[in-house]
Amino acid sequence: MRILVTGGAGFIGSTLVDRLLSDGHDVVVVDDLSTGSHRNPDAPLHVLDVRDPALADAAKGAEVVCHLAAQISVRRSVADPVLDAQVNVQGTVNVLEAARRAGARKVVFASSVAVYGKPPTIPVPGDAVPDPRSPYAAGKLSAETYLSSYRALHGLEYTTLVLSNVYGPRQSPDGEAGVVAIFTDALLVGRPTVLFGAGTQTRDYVFVEDVVDGFARACGPPGDGRRFNLGTGLQTTDRDLHTLIAAAAGAPDLPGLAPARLGDLPAMAVDPGPARDGLGWQPRTDLATGLKITVEWVRGHAP
Ligand SMILES: NC(=O)c1ccc[n+]([C@@H]2O[C@H](COP(=O)([O-])OP(=O)(O)OC[C@H]3O[C@@H](n4cnc5c(N)ncnc54)[C@H](O)[C@@H]3O)[C@@H](O)[C@H]2O)c1
Repeated sequence: MRILVTGGAGFIGSTLVDRLLSDGHDVVVVDDLSTGSHRNPDAPLHVLDVRDPALADAAKGAEVVCHLAAQISVRRSVADPVLDAQVNVQGTVNVLEAARRAGARKVVFASSVAVYGKPPTIPVPGDAVPDPRSPYAAGKLSAETYLSSYRALHGLEYTTLVLSNVYGPRQSPDGEAGVVAIFTDALLVGRPTVLFGAGTQTRDYVFVEDVVDGFARACGPPGDGRRFNLGTGLQTTDRDLHTLIAAAAGAPDLPGLAPARLGDLPAMAVDPGPARDGLGWQPRTDLATGLKITVEWVRGHAP
């Protein structure tokens, strides 16, 4: 089938493009190349802002739209909430308009665990009530509600995938799981690394190939407007993450310590159970294996 991937030159989007092409789909990419640069020559690229009305032309013939293009930085959303809303809310509405006009069957949307705020229960269950605490989180949740309204109004199906901290080859140090890229880059060249607080903060790291498997699965079934967490349910401390990356890089495991940063969430993990039941999805790559693959990729792409 023909699938449009917005943000298809980015970290997760380009990995998804490769996966969809290898599954035999006809893939079209829209990306403004503001942060993304990874291109697959077998997928035509429209260099376009998702807010541009010309998106409707790029969507022509698409049966499914995977919407990953976004302003991805929580810190930037705090500094410039208007820009964040323009790209992540207005941009999503424009994607929905383009999908509707193209007669697409379904939209698969990349949301974020940021929508859960500071959750009372970890791992966060699939039916947790969102509690956005940043403009980025508010924008993602707002985009989710637009998906729901388009389904009610136009019968446009959707699946929302709530991504935890995604890591893997092609990741830049700026994203939500940027710490993997930051530690990897530094440890491979012998630069000092720093842990904030005592390194006890936890995150749920999920390998990019597993995440794109979730998207590929979500392109298939009708959708019924459900949202699924794509994470492992496991918490990894910054300290343990450092140890694993240092081992994969063959570097000393000797991070410096700095005071905890105000506003940093102490813990996060999400329950992947509903994605297993609804999509037949499960994370298959354990963290040590995924980090080895990532470190080898970075080593092979050193400038
Ligand atoms: N990486 C993570 O851990 C993580 C976690 C939760 C959610 N997400 C979501 O997954 C999606 C992909 O994130 P990523 O980590 O691959 O980031 P990324 O920056 O590598 O990819 C985003 C892509 O969108 C493009 N883009 C940005 N603004 C655009 C615009 N206005 N018009 C067209 N294209 C635009 C960028 O050029 C880039 O290629 C995003 O929606 C992000 O919010 C990522």
